[in-house]
Amino acid sequence: MDSMEVNKAIASVLVAGIAFMAASLVADGLVHPTRLKQAAIQIELPKEPGAAPAAAPEPPIAALLASADVKAGEKIASTVCAACHSFDDGGKAGIGPNLYGILGSPHGHMAGFDYSSALKSKQGPWTYDELNAWLTKPSAYAPGTKMTFAGLSSEKQRADVIAYLRTLSKNPEPLPPVPAQTATATATATATATAPAGGAAPPAAGTPPIGPMIAAASPAEGKQIAEKNCAVCHSFDKGGKAIIGPNLWGVVGGPHAHMAGFDYSSALKSKQGPWTYDALNEWLTKPAAYAPGTRMTFAGLPKESERAAVIAYLRTLSDNPVPLPASGAAPAQSGESGNSQAGTTAAGEAPAAQQTPTGKPAGGETSAEPAQAGPPAAGDNAAPAK
Ligand code: HEC
Ligand code: HEC
Repeated sequence: MDSMEVNKAIASVLVAGIAFMAASLVADGLVHPTRLKQAAIQIELPKEPGAAPAAAPEPPIAALLASADVKAGEKIASTVCAACHSFDDGGKAGIGPNLYGILGSPHGHMAGFDYSSALKSKQGPWTYDELNAWLTKPSAYAPGTKMTFAGLSSEKQRADVIAYLRTLSKNPEPLPPVPAQTATATATATATATAPAGGAAPPAAGTPPIGPMIAAASPAEGKQIAEKNCAVCHSFDKGGKAIIGPNLWGVVGGPHAHMAGFDYSSALKSKQGPWTYDALNEWLTKPAAYAPGTRMTFAGLPKESERAAVIAYLRTLSDNPVPLPASGAAPAQSGESGNSQAGTTAAGEAPAAQQTPTGKPAGGETSAEPAQAGPPAAGDNAAPAK
C-alpha cells in the first residue's frame, strides 16, 4: 500500500532527524546556544502558549490533530524520543522523564525527576498547543531546558507525535475541537462534507469530525479494507460465526460487546452505550487506547479515510442501518452503495424487529428501535464525546 511509501518517507526523515539530533546533542554540549534569532527549521510557532482556548482564531494544531496519524506518531516517538524517554505506564526515567499521561499533566510531571528550573517554572498543564510549541523547539519554549533535542520541524510530525502522546493515558483527553471553518489543514480529509456537518452539530469537545467523512465514504471500499484487515478475525454476514473476534453484523448502533455468547474482555464489556460512529472511529484508531486490555490485538487503522470507509461499510451490515451522520446534507450516495454489499440487502427496507444474527436477542432490549434512537446524526456528535 502507499502507507509503506509513507512509512519509508517518514523513516528517512527520521534517520535524518536522528543524525541531526545526535549532532545537536554534541553541539549543545560544546557550545551554549544562545537563542538563535529564529531557527531555520522553525515553521510557525503558535501564539503565546498558556491560553489554549478555542477563542484563538485558528490553532493549527487542532485541525491537524483531527487527522493525525497515531501510528506514525508512535513510530516517530519510538525512534526519536525513545532515546531519552519511556512511554509506558510507570516506566522509568531515562535522560528525560517518563511521558505516560503527559498531556494534561503539569509541566515537570514526573515525581522525582530532576527537571531544569526552566521547565519547572512553567505554569499550568501541558495543553496540545503547548506541546506543539515545545516540540517545535524546546530551547525556545523553555530557554535553559535540559532537553537537548532540536525539535520537530514538521508540523505534521508534531501533530502525529502529540496524537500519540494523547493515547498514553487510561482516559485520553478529548481531541481539541476543530473550528468548523478551519477547513485549512483538514481540508483534504473532510473536504466534501465539512460545512454541513459543522452546521448540523456544533463540535462537542472531543469529537473528531468523522461523521461527514463517513457520510462521504464508500462502503465498497470499506468492505475491501475490512476483508484485508479484519476478516482474519471477524465475520460480517448475518448470523456469521465468531472467529477470533465476534461477528460484526449489526455492530453499528449495537451495544458494546454486542454478540451474545462471545467471550469479550472486561475492557470492552465495561464500555457503556451503543457503538456510535465516533466510538467506532476511536476504537479503530487504536483499540488498545480505546479499551486498554482489549483482546483485539489489532494495531488500528491510522488513516482516517480508511476508518471512515470501514465504518461506512459496517453500517451497511444491518437490516435497518443507522442513519448516516449529517444525513440531512449528503445522505444520497451511501444508501446506494450499501446495496452493492453482499450480505446487505435493502437498506431501509425491513424494519426487522429482531435483527440479531446469532439468533440471540443481543441488544434485544433496544431492538425495537435500536439504531434509530441510538447514534443518529446529530446525537452522534453531541452525546458520546466525553
Ligand atoms: C536527548 C534526550 C531527549 C530527546 C531526544 C527528547 N527528549 Fe524530551 N526531555 C528530555 C529531558 C532531559 C527533559 C526534561 C527537560 C527539563 O527538565 O528541562 C525532557 C522533557 C520532555 C517533556 C516535558 C515532560 C514533563 O514532565 O513536563 C516532554 C513532553 C518531552 N520531553 C517530549 C519529548 C518528545 C515527544 C520527544 C521526541 C520528539 C523528546 N521529548 C525527545 C530529553 C529528551
Ligand atoms: C487479530 C484479530 C482481530 C483483527 C485483525 C480485528 N479484530 Fe476486531 N475484535 C477482535 C476481538 C478479539 C474482539 C473482542 C475484543 C474484546 O473483547 O476486547 C474484537 C472486537 C471488535 C469490535 C467490537 C465488537 C463488539 O461486539 O463490541 C469491533 C467493532 C471490531 N472488532 C472491528 C474490527 C475491525 C473493523 C477490524 C479491521 C479494521 C478488526 N476489528 C480487526 C479481533 C480482531
